[in-house]
Amino acid sequence: MNLNIKTMSELLEKIDKNRVPQHIAIIMDGNGRWAKNKGMERSEGHRAGHDSLHVVLEAAANAGVKYLTVYAFSTENWNRPQAEVDALMELISIAVRIDTQNLINRGVRLKTIGDLSRLPQSARDSLNYCMKQTEHGERVTLILALNYSSRWELTKAMQDIAHETVNGELKPEDIDAETVNRHLATADYPEPDLLIRTGGEQRISNFLLWQISYSELYFCDTYWPDFGENELYKAIIEFQSRERRFGKTSAQVQEEIHIINK
Ligand code: FPP
Repeated sequence: MNLNIKTMSELLEKIDKNRVPQHIAIIMDGNGRWAKNKGMERSEGHRAGHDSLHVVLEAAANAGVKYLTVYAFSTENWNRPQAEVDALMELISIAVRIDTQNLINRGVRLKTIGDLSRLPQSARDSLNYCMKQTEHGERVTLILALNYSSRWELTKAMQDIAHETVNGELKPEDIDAETVNRHLATADYPEPDLLIRTGGEQRISNFLLWQISYSELYFCDTYWPDFGENELYKAIIEFQSRERRFGKTSAQVQEEIHIINK
């Protein structure tokens, strides 16, 4: 894979280093249409999407982003044509293993969210190998959402909480938002500050529904394989122009910023 990364993008210089989103989540949409436009198989689009993922990961790390979560395969994606599902599983099995040394060299820690048990053994082996080999990566954490959906995750969290309640480990009146957070697949990570969806659609598609309650949303028409470092930096700059209020008034937020900057 040729990363072809420019040493320093002009847009990167425009990013306020003190307000970089700590966690970015991405719905990498448009691989199929990108391939179709070029007269290629859809699986070629996913291969190009994999290259794009590494370019964007590097760009994110260079900007100071600490967590990047990408929707690589949803629980609904099993319903795609078998040939496409097989090609995606093969890509995961082969690419993740080949990527491992490169990820170690770049200080990337690989993690997953989702129910890996339904993935082919070869894919699980590659993912487990890569996660073990990259466990000390400190520059950025790449979280692959695989066989993931929010409804799966929330249903499982509710089941686990119900079991703990029945077992007497948890009192119903003690269940709060923090209890739910602890039972999610993302329990170890901060909530995404920014959610990006490429490919022109404006929906969330069962992705991190609980976690994006206060995330800034960014939609763009670019197909994922064409989404490079400059597109990422544009999204971060747009993020930095937004006022995050978390339910407060603008005046309150401005007062808080004033106090912090004093
Ligand atoms: C959505 O585009 C994309 C996917 C369902 C798969 C995304 C997977 C990758 C980018 C590969 C990642 C690789 C590894 C090894 C983690 P789409 O196919 O729905 O595009 P369309 O809307 O144009 O049809």
